[in-house]
Amino acid sequence: MYEHDVIVVGAGGAGLRAAIAADEEGADVALVTKLHPVRSHTGAAEGGINAALQEGDSWDLHAYDTMKGSDYLGDAPAIDTFAQDAPEEVIQLEHWGMPFSREDDGRVSQRPFGGLSYPRTTYAGAETGHHLLHTMYEQAVKRGIEVYDEWYVTRLAVTDHDDPEDRVCHGCVAYDIKSGEIHGFRANNGVILATGGLGQAFDHTTNAVANTGDGCAMAYRAGVPMEDMEMIQFHPTTLPSTGVLISEGVRGEGGILYNDNEERLMFEYGYANNDGELASRDVVARAELTEVNNGRGIEDEYVHLDMRHLGEERIIDRLENILHLAEDFEGVDGLDEPMPVKPGQHYAMGGVECDENGETCIEGLYAAGETACVSLHGANRLGGNALPELLVFGARAGHHAAGKDMKTAEIQTGPSAKSEPGDVEPPVEPGAVDAGSDDVAADGAAVEPQSVLENAVDHERRRVEELLESDGINHAEVRADVQQTMTGNVNVFREEDGLKEALRDIREARTEYENVAVEDPSRTYNTDLIHTIETRNILDVAEAITLGALAREEFRGAHWRAEHQERKDDEWIKHTMLAWNEGTPELYYKPVILEGDEQTYEPKERSY
Ligand code: FUM
Repeated sequence: MYEHDVIVVGAGGAGLRAAIAADEEGADVALVTKLHPVRSHTGAAEGGINAALQEGDSWDLHAYDTMKGSDYLGDAPAIDTFAQDAPEEVIQLEHWGMPFSREDDGRVSQRPFGGLSYPRTTYAGAETGHHLLHTMYEQAVKRGIEVYDEWYVTRLAVTDHDDPEDRVCHGCVAYDIKSGEIHGFRANNGVILATGGLGQAFDHTTNAVANTGDGCAMAYRAGVPMEDMEMIQFHPTTLPSTGVLISEGVRGEGGILYNDNEERLMFEYGYANNDGELASRDVVARAELTEVNNGRGIEDEYVHLDMRHLGEERIIDRLENILHLAEDFEGVDGLDEPMPVKPGQHYAMGGVECDENGETCIEGLYAAGETACVSLHGANRLGGNALPELLVFGARAGHHAAGKDMKTAEIQTGPSAKSEPGDVEPPVEPGAVDAGSDDVAADGAAVEPQSVLENAVDHERRRVEELLESDGINHAEVRADVQQTMTGNVNVFREEDGLKEALRDIREARTEYENVAVEDPSRTYNTDLIHTIETRNILDVAEAITLGALAREEFRGAHWRAEHQERKDDEWIKHTMLAWNEGTPELYYKPVILEGDEQTYEPKERSY
């Protein structure tokens, strides 16, 4: 068994920032990660980091844009905290040596991004995430923070009290990918989940294959509610054949979207008469697909993104990476031709319910970054708000877990924050497979840290032996079925019948997963085994997304429903919450907080 004060699961941007913060407080901190830190998906982030840095801009403008972008589903304490802390985090990064793109006078450059009222997106070419990751990894190395890389955390070690709010997290269990051994990691202060996104629940996504919703699924099964899971962002500009991201930075620099008639679609058809290509992502994604559905798409599938008029010098200076991506993954020379683009799954606005300090309702369990739902992004995240989120809330979670005295959080967590029960009747009984197999201690009485951890380790050792020894189907079939139904039915445009079909398909996939087996018997680098365990997580998060989407009977932000074409503020300014509830998810609601530090945010019609 390994032991540290703070264990951070995942070593992308949020994990690294959390670990550095915990180290700053003097805690003995370790990163446990299935990938080497600089292979994390944060490295694929292209566009930038929003922060109000310049005269003329201000944190409250940033906060207002974020709340408007969220379609009034973000919580004001999260949004205000975020916008206030972001500038300091960016300046800190600069001091750590982040190679930001700069103006001739040496100041860090900022460009326009969708939904922003001020050009506040700092960037490093079109590979901001890559540089961010390396800058913070350097800091982790400099501080001697212990990194267990290629260790896959598969379970949390949580006490088994009936009420999740009485539970305590004492650590986690991880599988050493190199040796096949399974060990416990005891956390004296806390575990911070920073495992990134869940894009692999869909088959057209900008997310890496590693983004399988591990942190969400583990926290969910341990008793932490999932919040606003239906709120999935589809990025408007992904390459059609692979889902590879073409940064919003292209439109920020002046790139234009054209339909098959070579019309500038955003203005021609009135999708966003003011901001055009720089409307928020939900608006642009729907515009593109509407063009395709109305017969004005190219090859009935995509539209064109043209940056040729920007000129070679500017493109090479600010967007060089985009040229490589378009050439390598689509065979298109962006200097000579427009690039084919279509919407693709990009980001989960929902996730593990936590407060402004990253705390969940389980003592000692935190979440940060895309895994978490504070809730900052509500129904739609603004481009450039993910990287500052992982800095701000990664740092806060790290400080808090390490024992720093922080301002008491305003956001309530856990089932006791319920304002009303859910009112959706799922067409199929969700969850039932694996009912009772919550990720909580197994012996009915364990509360001592040591025995909680030992129970969790035993459970995982048995699970892995069973997977390796049994015969059955390969996980890849199950995974593909879930991904296809999610992309087919829980995409940009959603209708009730499709959502019900997706739930049925997920239920069937769960039944199939009961017979899943790992063919590869080896104990070292057994990716078949890792992917099989990940697929279980995909099933749980896909079901949660679909249940949330079925429950929310309105059109808000990224959540469009054919039968409910209006935002219904009287009824729906509330978060959809799902509690695992021993494998039969329970839906309930929690109010959105619109009272901020300086203003109460009044929901307005959202136009760009
Ligand atoms: O388009 C992009 O560069 C992505 C940025 C983001 O998701 O924040």
